[in-house]
Formats: sequence, structure tokens, C-alpha cells
Amino acid sequence: MIGKLNHVAIVVPDLEAATARYRDLLGAEVSAVQELPEHGVSVVFVELGNTKIELLHPLGRNSAVAGFLARNPDGGMHHLCFEVKDLKEATEKMIRAGARVLGDGKIRTGAHGLPVVFLHPKDFDGTLIELEEIRQ
Ligand code: CO
Repeated sequence: MIGKLNHVAIVVPDLEAATARYRDLLGAEVSAVQELPEHGVSVVFVELGNTKIELLHPLGRNSAVAGFLARNPDGGMHHLCFEVKDLKEATEKMIRAGARVLGDGKIRTGAHGLPVVFLHPKDFDGTLIELEEIRQ
């Protein structure tokens, strides 16, 4: 059911320093900083050809990643995002199987303007999973 790994999201304590590390030390192509106030994050995309890394930093009050950074002051991996063709079908399958879909199982618009859901880390080996609908 899942397709490609769309991105790995990492919460970073210093977005500028993290961006410089990926660009200058690791030699990756990085985007400009994008502020997504509706998601409470500033994000830099690291393009890797086969997938992306998203460097996330809290933006504003009530940021979804502020608590994560408070618990993990050095930063850390926040979630994996897998592509699916039919998110409604995938979400219903997760719910039927007893997996917890965050936010009452409602499909939302994610940081890329595409439909997403998040699956509880306790149901996936301690890893927060994002499913994103990609229509080809
Ligand atoms: Co994501």
C-alpha cells in the first residue's frame, strides 16, 4: 500500500546551523526557509534525489514541534512520510486494524498542501508516521 518515502522530518534546535551543515558539509541542495504559520513550523527542504529531508523548527506559539524540541533539546527524527495513492482507503484500513490515527482520524492538509494523516508512534515501533496522498 505505501509507496515511496516522501521525506524524513528532523526537528532542529538551530535551523540556520542545520541548513549550513547539510549544504556546506554534506554538500546537499537545500531550499530557502519557508515559514508555515498554520503548521507552526519553519522548514528547509534538503533534496536528495530519491527522497527529501525536512528540517523543522518551531514557529510561533502552539507549534506542534515545540514540545518535541523541549523533550529533545539536541533535536531528533520527528517522523517518516510515506506516499499513498488513496489516503481515505489507507486511513480506513488503519482504523479497522486498530491503529490510532491522530486528530480523530480526520484527513488534513499537510505542509505540502496535500492530504495527510499521522499515525500514532506507539502503533509503529516508536516512530510517528505520516501518510501523504500523492496522485500520479
Ligand atoms: Co511531514
